[in-house]
Amino acid sequence: MSTLLEVRHVSRSFHTTTAVDDISFAVQPGELLGLIGPNGAGKSTLFNLIAGVLPPSAGQILFDGKPVTGWKSHDIARIGIARTFQIPKPYRQLSVVENVMLSAFLREKSLAGARKLAETTLADVGLADYSGAPANSLTVGLLKRLEVARALAMRPKLVLFDEIMAGLTPTEVGVMTGFVAGLPARGITVIWVEHVLYAIMKTATRMVVINRGKLIAEGAPAVMARDPAVVKAYLGEEMVLA
Ligand SMILES: Nc1ncnc2c1ncn2[C@@H]1O[C@H](COP(=O)(O)OP(=O)(O)OP(=O)(O)O)[C@@H](O)[C@H]1O
Ligand SMILES: [Mg+2]
Repeated sequence: MSTLLEVRHVSRSFHTTTAVDDISFAVQPGELLGLIGPNGAGKSTLFNLIAGVLPPSAGQILFDGKPVTGWKSHDIARIGIARTFQIPKPYRQLSVVENVMLSAFLREKSLAGARKLAETTLADVGLADYSGAPANSLTVGLLKRLEVARALAMRPKLVLFDEIMAGLTPTEVGVMTGFVAGLPARGITVIWVEHVLYAIMKTATRMVVINRGKLIAEGAPAVMARDPAVVKAYLGEEMVLA
């Protein structure tokens, strides 16, 4: 099978900060790639570059073999890349299902079609009971699930999850981990940024580790947990492995 996503020598600077510094990696269809690194490593910025929220300062991004560097987020979503935001950004005055319908309209033009896709996706993430609730009434854990539903209702080939476990109870982490683990079998390739390392370590098929904008290690989760460069990067940070 051909490579789904290829990130080639991608960099992004903000004034004097180089948030992403010459990063290259590739993702194959069906992978569940864990992307980890300490606070400020450049993970969310890398997602913003892939998702078209920001253009890279240098480098190329290819999706399905096609160059998509600098494309706008709407066009990136259309070709099959969806993402969640680290800080959930729902339309707080709209209901839960209406929030998801806004994503579903990317694939379903009719109101009924979009509603059906949104309802199915909400059931998928365990939010069916909250369909009519205003988004601003949801707890942190439920808001994270809403972010996941908004991304999946775009029927992506590749989904970028940015810290969907933050603020969840251990039980919620377990449920969400099981859900994410099942996505590749449904044809959805995943890149998952997470600080809850034990969840990602047991689920990811491969890991990419970044620190200060640079890719410092890449490989199997068990190998990464013992890699001296990775352990050093996490010194002084909470590295929760069990
Ligand atoms: N829009 C921006 N303007 C200026 N600096 C930014 C911007 N976005 C990110 N940065 C800087 O880029 C660096 C990487 O930030 P980023 O948010 O990508 O890190 P992260 O790995 O997602 O961190 P965290 O784990 O805390 O979410 C940080 O130094 C941050 O302050
Ligand atoms: Mg981040």
